[in-house]
Amino acid sequence: MGILSLRVLIFALLCILLSPLLIAGVIIYTWRLRHSSVRQNISGTANEPLGGRLGMHVAGTRIDDAAYKIAGHLPSFTKLSRFLIIDLLGFASKLSGFKGSFLAYPGERPSKLMSMLSHRTYFFDRSVNDSLSRNDNPPKQFVVLGAGYDTRCYDLPNGLDIQCFEVDMTPTLNAKKKALELAGIPHDHVIFVETDFNQETWMEALLDSGFNPSLTTYILWEGVTMYLVEAAIKDTLNLVSTLPKGSAVGVDFFSEDLVKGNGPYEKISKAMHKGIRYYSEKIIFGVSTGEQLSAGVQNLARESGLTVSRFEHTGSKEDKLPPWYFFAHIDNL
Ligand SMILES: C[S@@+](CC[C@H](N)C(=O)[O-])C[C@H]1O[C@@H](n2cnc3c(N)ncnc32)[C@H](O)[C@@H]1O
Repeated sequence: MGILSLRVLIFALLCILLSPLLIAGVIIYTWRLRHSSVRQNISGTANEPLGGRLGMHVAGTRIDDAAYKIAGHLPSFTKLSRFLIIDLLGFASKLSGFKGSFLAYPGERPSKLMSMLSHRTYFFDRSVNDSLSRNDNPPKQFVVLGAGYDTRCYDLPNGLDIQCFEVDMTPTLNAKKKALELAGIPHDHVIFVETDFNQETWMEALLDSGFNPSLTTYILWEGVTMYLVEAAIKDTLNLVSTLPKGSAVGVDFFSEDLVKGNGPYEKISKAMHKGIRYYSEKIIFGVSTGEQLSAGVQNLARESGLTVSRFEHTGSKEDKLPPWYFFAHIDNL
């Protein structure tokens, strides 16, 4: 038996031993999610990427102190459920030495369903870091659209001169602000903008909050387009094209075939729609693909006068289920 298989085996055995506690944690988490979070219209799907980042944090593959701290004070996660699920998984990972699958960072390529989130996190970490740390015309504003429980504004390099904006719907932003305060995480450098991207006035809310359209800006738009109408997506890309040269957006898209349940995607599409309905949310938008997979994203960018500088997808073209999740770094050159 190879060393990797041994680690997987020990990790699995530890999880079985800890399963009563893990199950108790999942029950507490799920109860709060349904009875507190979703009832107050606080995004439930925002917990999915947070959960992924927490797993990587406790496995030690990608440190995210802010995510770990706020997870003690959310309507979904509390210190107790964080301990019962996240800390115990971290304990099993550290004791066994297993840091693969959903705990890996940057993770395997081609990525699989279990490593999809770490692939996405790595892609956008690079997109953000490359933009914010460049010497030539660095962005002066960092906007996180559909911020949810994203923590990149709280892990910026020391001395970076940048104004941050976190944009989301009111209940989710309020829950996050409260968690940041209770966790003692400084957030004076962040302006919180409450809005609904599916309303025509969302751009005005950003401008009213002090967003300066004449400054070079990096926009992180991770895990959001699938919940929006096409017009909101085109509006946002059009906004990026009106910003100064050097502005950019990091964005991900589901494929149109997945969202519509076409071709080989019927089963996974049904499961995906059902999973999201569990959070009382809805998947709406998917991008067309074409032979190169990137054709739809290229077209969207081109229509707004923008350029796709980096494009990746999960999975491989040789898979039974061809790739359906796309990541793009789009520049206003
Ligand atoms: C899956 S979460 C992603 C959160 C975060 N970007 C991340 O990757 O951790 C989707 C986020 O988009 C926000 N969102 C969805 N539809 C929105 C809308 N119409 N207007 C504003 N925010 C929206 C949700 O509230 C939620 O926080």
